[in-house]
Amino acid sequence: MHAEGVAVSALADAVGTPFYCYSTETLTRHARVMREALAGLDSPMIVFAVKANPNVAVLRVLARAGLGADVVSVGEMRRALAAGIPPGLIVFSGVGKTDAELRAALEAGIFQINVEGEEELRRLSHSAQALGLVADIALRVNPDVDAGTLAKISTGKAENKFGIGLDRVMDLYAEAARLPGINPVGIAAHIGSQLFDLAPLETAYGKLGALVAALRAAGLSVSRVDLGGGLGIPYDPKLPLPPSPAEYGAMVQRATAGWGVQLMFEPGRLIAGNAGILVSRVVTMKRGATRTFVVLDAAMNDLIRPTLYGVYHDIRAVEPTGGRMVATVVGPVCETGDMFAEDRDMDAVETGDLVALMTAGAYGATMAGTYNSRPLLPEVLVDGDRFAVVRDRQTLEDLIGLDRVPDWLQGEL
Ligand code: LLP
Repeated sequence: MHAEGVAVSALADAVGTPFYCYSTETLTRHARVMREALAGLDSPMIVFAVKANPNVAVLRVLARAGLGADVVSVGEMRRALAAGIPPGLIVFSGVGKTDAELRAALEAGIFQINVEGEEELRRLSHSAQALGLVADIALRVNPDVDAGTLAKISTGKAENKFGIGLDRVMDLYAEAARLPGINPVGIAAHIGSQLFDLAPLETAYGKLGALVAALRAAGLSVSRVDLGGGLGIPYDPKLPLPPSPAEYGAMVQRATAGWGVQLMFEPGRLIAGNAGILVSRVVTMKRGATRTFVVLDAAMNDLIRPTLYGVYHDIRAVEPTGGRMVATVVGPVCETGDMFAEDRDMDAVETGDLVALMTAGAYGATMAGTYNSRPLLPEVLVDGDRFAVVRDRQTLEDLIGLDRVPDWLQGEL
């Protein structure tokens, strides 16, 4: 198995396992495919959802490919700026922005803040006034549409915490237009992630279109609509493919015809998911009473998606022999849920072999933790036949060194 021109086994020799590996070529191609899919629209703006993969080197690749950044915390904003993404290409979303975060966004002069509620709107107005600045804002609408994806990553139903109910948007937009320090420029929505069906998106966009018309009829100005992210990607090679970016683009063109706004898009997974893998080594094979376990040196703390959502990641031998086996692939963490695959028909592997957990470039390293005092993994970026470690493996000193033993516990035991 190679990442571009570099053998994955050579990377493992160089950095040790486990590690994440990303492809510059694939990241760039995905950005291009998305741009081409939206080429028929009037000056679309694509902002990468940084939460999917916030590594600064990855963001830098995407910045070079012309993408902006959708951020949900001051930390993500700092990463985007560190990658060289101009403030004019940064959008701040998120359901719980603190005053300090709103001030930081205002001071950085970012493109747009997507406001999630009326209290946040008033807090932003105060902060903007105090700083003598004006914030361009969109109101995030909750269109009350079932995205048809996993409940844990659905965001557009009325009962979800995200956005402002359709019935309240008109009044709040009018209030925004009156508030000092606030310049309402449009509306935003994001109904969920890993969508395999365009119909709910089209329904949601239809509701946004009606809202644009209603806002304008009320004399309010609307110049941008942020359509969010959410397009699904293939994880399981046995399943049918999700809608292509081109099909998505054609739907958007149909659904938004005549809106007369700048459209914005916030793809995350689509750009980064299949541009990354998690490489791990088999620590031991174990014959349980009813099944064979492959125990990896990666665990749920490194890639939590299978444990958290019960979702599928393809697992392949880095140097396949051609043999097959049925096994349950687990990590060393002390939880039964620390499982990457259950009774999986997969490449035959044995102790010491390398495996790749596929489609791990989005919501992989970024969701990692240190449970069981396992250090955060290194990340490697490949570009042609060269590679670089773009995040160091966390050391045990770093991991333990933030703990403090108070005075009264020091001295003799
Ligand atoms: N915009 C907003 C406001 C979002 O909340 C999200 C994702 C995106 C854009 C990007 O969505 P994407 O294009 O990547 O689907 N941890 C979960 C996914 C959570 C997504 C959260 N929001 C997973 O591993 O499946």
